[in-house]
Amino acid sequence: TYGKTSSRGKLIVFEGCDRSGKSTQCAMLTERLRKDGHKVEQLKFPDRTTSIGHMINNYLANKEEQRDEVIHLLFSANRWESMQKMSNLLLGGTTLVVDRYAYSGIAYSAAKGMDLQWCRQPDVGLIKPDKVIFMTLSADRASERAAFGEERYEKKEFQAKVEKIFEQLFEKSYWQNVSGDGTVEEVHNDVYGVVSQIVSSDCGPLEKLWT
Ligand code: TYD
Ligand code: MG
Repeated sequence: TYGKTSSRGKLIVFEGCDRSGKSTQCAMLTERLRKDGHKVEQLKFPDRTTSIGHMINNYLANKEEQRDEVIHLLFSANRWESMQKMSNLLLGGTTLVVDRYAYSGIAYSAAKGMDLQWCRQPDVGLIKPDKVIFMTLSADRASERAAFGEERYEKKEFQAKVEKIFEQLFEKSYWQNVSGDGTVEEVHNDVYGVVSQIVSSDCGPLEKLWT
């Protein structure tokens, strides 16, 4: 395990397809939990600020090509390079609200046809989330929202494949589906209902993902 404390912060991860509303909901949840008096930080993956993140950004912006295996491992490495900082914050009592994590890593790569078990392996041992909020929104409904940008993967057919893989990754012990198909306030209240209890509870030591 990553260490022990009775009052550690919780790792809350948002997952879902592009334009499912994750970023808005991460920001609203962070603000709400702070109002409740919790120490909270918001993070997102990919973290485009690091040197690995710059490579990922160039790939997503279609400025650089990478083999599928290489970009997959870079996304994973981009999470690994944050583990020390994340465990320090969590063990110091700060709750982390994280926009995307290992599940996006698997879903987007496997949607290209890569082997799912191969894709899972590099992320084995990351800090295990206390809760994954999976934002559901059909590719049809998502495409009715503001137009997709120019980035790689921002296409309706591909997003539908990603959604299917996410469904295969669902782990009922710590995942919760939340419908992204409502007003931001409605969705926020659903999200808050899922996490408010866990954030104030004692979750035991940090665990490692998929070990
Ligand atoms: P995204 O969260 O959509 O960034 P932004 O909010 O800036 O649009 O992430 C960018 C893309 O990267 C998104 O299409 C999902 C993809 N992705 C992967 O393919 N693998 C990963 O491990 C992660 C974290 C994201
Ligand atoms: Mg995006």
